[in-house]
Amino acid sequence: MQGFEFYCPTDIVFGRGAEDKLSAKVKQYGGSRVLLVYGGGSVERSGLLKKLEENLQAGGIEFKSVGGVQPNPRMSFAKKVVREAIDFEADFVLAVGGGSVIDTAKAAAVGLANPEADIEEFWDKGKKIKTCAPLGAVLTISAAGSETSDSSVLTIDGTGKKGGAHADIMRPDFAIMNPELTFTLPPYQIACGVVDIIMHTLERYISHVEGNSFTDLVAEALMKNVIQYGRIAVAHRKNYDAMSEIMWCGSVSHNGFTGLGRGKEFSAHKLGHVLSGVYDVTHGASLAVMWPAWATYVYKDNPNRFAQLAEQVWGVTVGTPEERSRAGIRMMKEFFEQIGVPTTFTKLGIGVLSDEDIEKLADICTKNDTIKVGVFHPMDKKEVMAIYQSVNK
Ligand code: NZQ
Ligand code: ZN
Repeated sequence: MQGFEFYCPTDIVFGRGAEDKLSAKVKQYGGSRVLLVYGGGSVERSGLLKKLEENLQAGGIEFKSVGGVQPNPRMSFAKKVVREAIDFEADFVLAVGGGSVIDTAKAAAVGLANPEADIEEFWDKGKKIKTCAPLGAVLTISAAGSETSDSSVLTIDGTGKKGGAHADIMRPDFAIMNPELTFTLPPYQIACGVVDIIMHTLERYISHVEGNSFTDLVAEALMKNVIQYGRIAVAHRKNYDAMSEIMWCGSVSHNGFTGLGRGKEFSAHKLGHVLSGVYDVTHGASLAVMWPAWATYVYKDNPNRFAQLAEQVWGVTVGTPEERSRAGIRMMKEFFEQIGVPTTFTKLGIGVLSDEDIEKLADICTKNDTIKVGVFHPMDKKEVMAIYQSVNK
């Protein structure tokens, strides 16, 4: 087991009616002027925005609401939100939505605490984030895990690149998680979220680091649980128990807990982020395409590890380690297809790409072949191209 630090300070308020505690939570973390950030309108249509605004008003908290965050959120829009936060003299940023909104709110909170800085440097140039304004989230979709994670992912306009910033200080102070707030989600969006949740654990699980029995058991249980309840959630979005299971697993999957002693791999995320950056495809869908392709390419590096996944998550007990590995990868891919997410470029809606297009993706991913991608099997540009080509149908 590798050494680790685990810091996950987010105060979770989970369950029916959790949003009623909004004002109390904002005050607990020092907020009196709130910049409320939301997305493209789902929270207006559901009535959640109005309910939260009334709650803040009743609590005597000043606020300004700013909508318009789009999926695969843009750096240019985040900068506008930073300006709104500064002009409003906010002392607290509240995200109401999913990963895209929370990631934009994280940028706003960083910008608010660093008013002289160009926030793009933190996301695109690796500048270290040292301060961040208080931040909370009301979660409306189980997927990205941003409500407890240390990360924020923004598309750098005009580059096709999704830049990630990481800092413990960006973890939200609180997350309000009422599974009922996810009942309005379209099934496709639920399914993409289910894939993302599994992937945040799976991309920590596949590793050459031995000897993490407890972390393995936690990871295997989480993946099995999300597969079981994910199927129910996609078919019955108002099933409170299923939506609760995936919501809680979504947070635990990406707060670092399921990879303790092992670290992160995240190759499928890196391959998928480029697809989302260039073609604006849904994050979870990009992962469903890329993970089986990546796994098929690399499993021979450590068949015993993939065989353990097949055995513990899918119950595959017969065959050589290689045979069990292939069966486990196939069953994961079939699960993605059963819940309605794509596993090829055509099904993803981007068609069959030209060789030049594939090369462009690989160039973005490997910074023109100057860096290798991944930890389990570090890949150069040629290998990245081969993986993209394997799903280019
Ligand atoms: O914008 P609105 O109108 O709210 O609609 C959203 C959006 O179209 C809709 N939605 C959300 N809650 C809803 C709802 N529709 C109906 N009812 C509700 N209750 O769902 C759509 C997708 O929203 P989005 O926030 O984009 O989803 P998700 O949570 O999957 O976030 C994806 C983003 O998070 C990033 C991804 O790269 C992507 O940009 N990630 C962030 C991470 C992090 N910060 O730790 C880690 C992840 O790996 C991921 O990279
Ligand atoms: Zn993800």
